[in-house]
This record gives sequence, C-alpha cells and structure tokens, in this order.
Amino acid sequence: TPIAVLISGRGSNMRALIEACERPDFPARIVLVLSNKPDAAGLEVARAAGLQTAAIDHKAFGKDREAHERKVDAAIRASGAQLVCLAGYMRVLTPYLVNAWDGRMLNIHPSLLPAFPGLHTHEAAIAVGATEHGCTVHLVTAGVDEGPILGQARVPVLKSDTPDALAARVLEQEHALYPLVLQNYINRQ
Ligand code: GRF
Repeated sequence: TPIAVLISGRGSNMRALIEACERPDFPARIVLVLSNKPDAAGLEVARAAGLQTAAIDHKAFGKDREAHERKVDAAIRASGAQLVCLAGYMRVLTPYLVNAWDGRMLNIHPSLLPAFPGLHTHEAAIAVGATEHGCTVHLVTAGVDEGPILGQARVPVLKSDTPDALAARVLEQEHALYPLVLQNYINRQ
C-alpha cells in the first residue's frame, strides 16, 4: 500500500516508518514525505533515504487553512498514496482534509487517549501524578486526538521523571507502535 507521511519537525516517527517499510514483508511503501515546514529536519532524512518529498508552507496561506489543505491534498493524491500517516504533523486539520481521507488517515499522539489530548501531554501526566502514560495511534476524525483508537503502548511514570525523561520513554514506544499498528491496519480486511 502506497502511503504519504506528513511531518512538521525532526520526523523520528517517520524514520521508524521508513525502517519498517524497508522490511520485505511490510505491506506499505512510502511514496511521499510532506511537511508544512520547508525547514523540517525530517525532510532531509527522507531525501537521504531516497524518498519523494514536498514542503507546502502553511504560512503562505495566511488564515486560510482549507486553501493550504487543498494543496496538501493535491500533492498526496499526485503521489498515488492510498493512506496518510501523520507523524509529528503539528497542524490541526479542518473537516476538508479529514473528510477527504476518512478512514485512511492515521495519527500518533503521545498519551494514552482519551487521556491528555492536545499538547504538553508529558507535563500533564506528571502534574496529575499519573503512574502510567504512553502513546496512541488512532484514525483521524474531525475532533482533535479523538478518532477510533487502533493501538496503544504503555510506559511507567517514575517518581524521578522530568517531562523530557518521560517523553523519551514514550517516544521509544511510539517508534515500535506506529509501524505495528500500520501493518495491522493495512492487513485488517
Ligand atoms: C512525538 O511525540 C509524536 O507523538 C508527536 O510529535 C512528536 C514528535 O514526533 N505527534 P517526531 O519525532 O517528529 O516523529
């Protein structure tokens, strides 16, 4: 299955997906890595891996989110992708793109949804004294971080944890979870 991976930053989850797609038995291949930020470090990683990349700067569209998403959608369709994996893609999507890829767009979020939607999830988990935390891969729906959950991975929260220490422990699980969930989702039927 040809997939497009959307990033905004370093792309460590994208890197995990690239490595998974290199496995001969893995049912996906990356046909596009797209970022809303032309300077996203992950774009360099994708290029070094010989992948097709695109940068569509959301700043060029001012407040018109949908106009930006139309360009993003056109690039994804031009690539032939049949599934979209958001991987550290830090834009809230309008119903336009969500509906265009209903049931075919996945996202990874660094918390055990429905707990801690939104940003700063590790600080929030520590602040409430959570003893467990983790990450979630879900289908993208109109509401932020609230689509059907496809898979989760759990980590303990240690008393000594700083947000960075906890984030690092979660990120390690993200890199294992995303490829596993993607594989299962593609093979689901
Ligand atoms: C990760 O914590 C991911 O869960 C969130 O964005 C962060 C950065 O991801 N969506 P990446 O390293 O750019 O893949």
